[in-house]
Amino acid sequence: MNWKLVGSILEVGAFLLIMVLLWFLYKWYMKSTKPFEDLWYGPEGVIRYHVEDIVTATDNFHSRHEIGAGGFGKVYYAVLDGKEVAIKRANSSSIQSTSGFQNEVVLLSRLHHVNLVCLLGFCEGEGIQILVYEYMSNGNLFTMLFKRKTSLSGLTRLDIAIGVAHGLEYLHTFVGPPVIHRDVKPSNVLLDNNLVAKLSDFGISKVAPGFDSEMPTRPCGTAGYIDPQYVLIEQLTSASDVYSFGVVLLELVTGHKSIDNARIDGQNLVEWVAVKLSSEGPESVVDKRLGNDYPKQIFHDIIRLGLDCATFKSGERPSMKAAVTILDACRWSVATDVLGVGGAVRFSGRTDEETEKGG
Ligand SMILES: Nc1ncnc2c1ncn2[C@@H]1O[C@H](COP(=O)(O)OP(=O)(O)O)[C@@H](O)[C@H]1O
Ligand SMILES: [Mg+2]
Repeated sequence: MNWKLVGSILEVGAFLLIMVLLWFLYKWYMKSTKPFEDLWYGPEGVIRYHVEDIVTATDNFHSRHEIGAGGFGKVYYAVLDGKEVAIKRANSSSIQSTSGFQNEVVLLSRLHHVNLVCLLGFCEGEGIQILVYEYMSNGNLFTMLFKRKTSLSGLTRLDIAIGVAHGLEYLHTFVGPPVIHRDVKPSNVLLDNNLVAKLSDFGISKVAPGFDSEMPTRPCGTAGYIDPQYVLIEQLTSASDVYSFGVVLLELVTGHKSIDNARIDGQNLVEWVAVKLSSEGPESVVDKRLGNDYPKQIFHDIIRLGLDCATFKSGERPSMKAAVTILDACRWSVATDVLGVGGAVRFSGRTDEETEKGG
């Protein structure tokens, strides 16, 4: 036996074995400590945040940072890079595939409008999917309208309606391809420092394949706001957002919730308004908390518009563009009245309390 040859073969074999082991160790190390630079950066204009920075800014997602919760998960307040932000973290049932989450970030990054909450960035890690938004210090419209003792003034309600209408018109008309929000309701309307309305929560939004083409989709949304015709025929169009918008308009004017089991003369707001309007006239449905301090004719026009938007047949609803035209005309007529040009019913406009920070 040539012991020298055997020795050399063993040496080479051991060397190769060590090399293979080192290779696998290297691969394992790279996978477990994937360097930040190798990760997906996201679309232009959107920041990819480090998980550690978000954990530090929220004290490891401490409950005292919580400012909201919903189907997607919890929302936390934090300051990142000196800016107030809202951090929306997906709970375990909302975690999507990496490609699904990245597609969502790309979709949201394309949307820029004064009446949409702006996406600042995102964060993705092992079991973590986070969207970072600009912080809206006056919270959501549901709380403002139904939970606070002080009532929003007539003018503020009109401005909020106009803001939401413009945000939706932008999604339907000016984004290519158009986006259908699918969950328009007061808790998804946020209010900034100046009570400017910003539509948020695009969690279940859909990109329409062609303008107003009908998409077969499983109905989802929120009871009281979901388009009843869409529930029946499962064809999604932008008219479904118009329906939900109509309900929000009626809530703004009446101060009543879309569904209220305690409302003995009609649990569904749309039916309640329609019946009362024809039997007792428009003033019977306007929020009593407004007293006489609202532009009467304009509120009556808005009640009409709300009912038109929330009509059963989607083909009979106005487009968001048409709704915006009507509401802008209302705002114009209020402005001329406040300036004393009009001469119709005068009212005082916003209260100082409404514009205070916080809430
Ligand atoms: N950018 C934000 N600024 C302030 N509060 C927010 C912000 N985003 C969400 N919230 C609060 O968290 C709540 C739930 O957020 P939302 O985006 O609607 O989540 P979900 O998809 O779970 O419904 C909102 O109604 C609001 O009160
Ligand atoms: Mg929501």
